Amino acid sequence: MEYGLAIKNNHLYFGGADTVELAKQYGTPLYVFDEQLIRNACRDYKNSIDRYYDGNGMVLYASKAFSCKEMYRLANEEGIGVDTVSGGEIYTALAAGFPAENIFFHGNNKTNDELELAIEKNIGHIVIDDFDEIDRINSIAEKLGKTVKVMLRIKPGIDAHTHEFIKTGQNDCKFGFTLETGEALEAAKKAIKAKNLNVTGFHCHIGSQIFSTEPFCLAASVMASFIARIANETGHVVSELNLGGGFGIRYTDEDEPLPYAEFMQKVSAQLKYSCKELSLPVPKVFIEPGRSIVGPAGITLYTVGSIKTIPNIRTYVSVDGGMSDNPRYALYGAKYDMLIANKAEQANDFVATVAGKCCESGDLIGENIKIATPETGDILAVLATGAYNYSMASNYNRIPRPAAIMVKNGESRVIIKRETFEDLISKDL
Ligand SMILES: Cc1ncc(COP(=O)(O)O)c(C=O)c1O
Repeated sequence: MEYGLAIKNNHLYFGGADTVELAKQYGTPLYVFDEQLIRNACRDYKNSIDRYYDGNGMVLYASKAFSCKEMYRLANEEGIGVDTVSGGEIYTALAAGFPAENIFFHGNNKTNDELELAIEKNIGHIVIDDFDEIDRINSIAEKLGKTVKVMLRIKPGIDAHTHEFIKTGQNDCKFGFTLETGEALEAAKKAIKAKNLNVTGFHCHIGSQIFSTEPFCLAASVMASFIARIANETGHVVSELNLGGGFGIRYTDEDEPLPYAEFMQKVSAQLKYSCKELSLPVPKVFIEPGRSIVGPAGITLYTVGSIKTIPNIRTYVSVDGGMSDNPRYALYGAKYDMLIANKAEQANDFVATVAGKCCESGDLIGENIKIATPETGDILAVLATGAYNYSMASNYNRIPRPAAIMVKNGESRVIIKRETFEDLISKDL
């Protein structure tokens, strides 16, 4: 088995720990993360920049994938930066002692309060998303007597072949400035003229769960041409390029991810070539993997409750969580592999529709899922849930969010406490 998983004595192990015991010890639903897998992914990306791009770059963990204090601590220990998209993520990172200069602040609708927080705390880079933001960041920076390092988010017009809702490099997208229409050029000229902004480079993010290096290479070449055009038209030669994240992971057998290092290998070659052709200095490069750092490093454990067979139609196997801790099936029809953790050696010959406990017919975790014959009280493990699960969780139906634990070499520790009913009413008046 892959991704830190193993089977012993009919039980599923993850990160060296018996998941059935973890469920007993901490209760379910439970998010379980394997620390070593997270560190390995950070290292793979970091090493790929060292190896293929002469170390002239930085990995930024896209913390929207899973944001909590422990993740920022781990990222810092691994010597990488982070991408944040809200005041809340910035606040969490700073509270964990993350160095402000290694934080990027993204987002298509940043509020003045968020910008003030970022500028006051000397956040490393702000990635500008629209014209109004150029003025707002400049005037807040002026008020605070600072010069802010900024990038502009550009839509390079690339259609990465992925799910409709998670492709973002094409023109019809709420993020960034369009290259094709001249909007990006106009925005860059405006930002370069702004007194309290230092335009260090440009950013693009072409989508998510992408399995081919081609769209990234295309993006690198389009962005290099844009850098050259800006240099020619304004004399301002930027020194940084952020190519975003989006590297695909394996959720099921349908997915065939590439080794993470391959992205930098191909992109580095393309970027060096483009820069040579355009007589540009090779820029410092940033990449922003989120899903691929934490996705495979997390699983969710549930307890099976009601099992309802509708003859000739389907069997609903309901678990004690659902769209409140993992809304991705309801949102995108996202597919997962699952197995019964206490029957890990048994044949997966039962076809189930795995349902949550929320009061919503669409509250499913998966359909046509092959698992061992389920019984009430079994522990169901849903794999590769480390990204966009906890971070998208809600209290729908006033269901408390599960705890998250980190395992390493069989040892476990809580990194996010389970919410209580008291937590649920703590803000009610
Ligand atoms: C700007 C930006 N960078 C990085 C990411 C991370 O993408 P992924 O988790 O697919 O690597 C996202 C995802 O939405 C993004 O919007």
